Amino acid sequence: MSALLQLENVSKAYRQPQQGLFNRQKTPVINNVSFSLKQGECLGIIGASGSGKSTLGKLILGLEKPDHGKIYFDGHEMQTRTWRKLQLQRQLSAVFQDYNASVNPYFKVAQIIGEPIAIYTNMSKKDRQQRIEQLLEQVGLDHSFYHRFPHEISGGQLQRVCIARAIACDPKFILFDEAVSSLDISVQTQILALLAELQKQLNLTAIFISHDLTTITYLCNRVIFFQHGTIVESIDDITQLKQVQNSYSKQLLQSILGF
Ligand SMILES: Nc1ncnc2c1ncn2[C@@H]1O[C@H](COP(=O)(O)OP(=O)(O)O)[C@@H](O)[C@H]1O
Ligand SMILES: [Mg+2]
Repeated sequence: MSALLQLENVSKAYRQPQQGLFNRQKTPVINNVSFSLKQGECLGIIGASGSGKSTLGKLILGLEKPDHGKIYFDGHEMQTRTWRKLQLQRQLSAVFQDYNASVNPYFKVAQIIGEPIAIYTNMSKKDRQQRIEQLLEQVGLDHSFYHRFPHEISGGQLQRVCIARAIACDPKFILFDEAVSSLDISVQTQILALLAELQKQLNLTAIFISHDLTTITYLCNRVIFFQHGTIVESIDDITQLKQVQNSYSKQLLQSILGF
């Protein structure tokens, strides 16, 4: 089966603010990254803070352009007309760490979830309301949340709303960037269980970016170890995680196995 997402030798460098306004030099953040993802696969990307994970996520979503290399989604090169159409239809979707910053505080829950549906589909108002109810139920929130504002619900509940919005237009791919990292441990567990359930129900193709290997082992069937913008190791079968060779990967694995 051909890949849903494909990265070929992708590189990106940024000019660091502290280097001054007239300094033309850039610091490499992503170095020659290649991998592909098939439909139905869930890939984990693990790396320390600052290793370039979120930048990689932004490149995949088309929010940033690579300096070198190519990214294909469903066979279409990024930024081409067909790719843009897929992007507009919300075939690529995302859930970020900062749920507070990713919603409009003046929107009610129903508006937050319903916005992409209203913009990107032709659903009637009545069908849209029904779809919002269905999505709320799917993420474990009852009807009483429909008319609430973000400040009237907890962080875990707001992240559920963001997940409902992310799946609202039946995306082909979802990127989760540290989606549970800001939540309390007990809430993290609940959200992970929800994501595992949704994954089964919707046969999601997803990338879970995290600095925490436990999150990744819970949800993913593949994992990429990422260090200084480079893939240092990839494991294509999560059950073979103990076979890691690279010293950095071993270190991360030991930290969760506790020896
Ligand atoms: N828009 C930007 N401009 C300049 N530097 C950036 C930008 N975005 C990220 N960086 C830098 O790139 C590096 C990797 O950042 P990031 O991708 O956020 O890492 P991670 O998500 O793994 O913590 C950091 O050193 C960060 O400061
Ligand atoms: Mg990040």
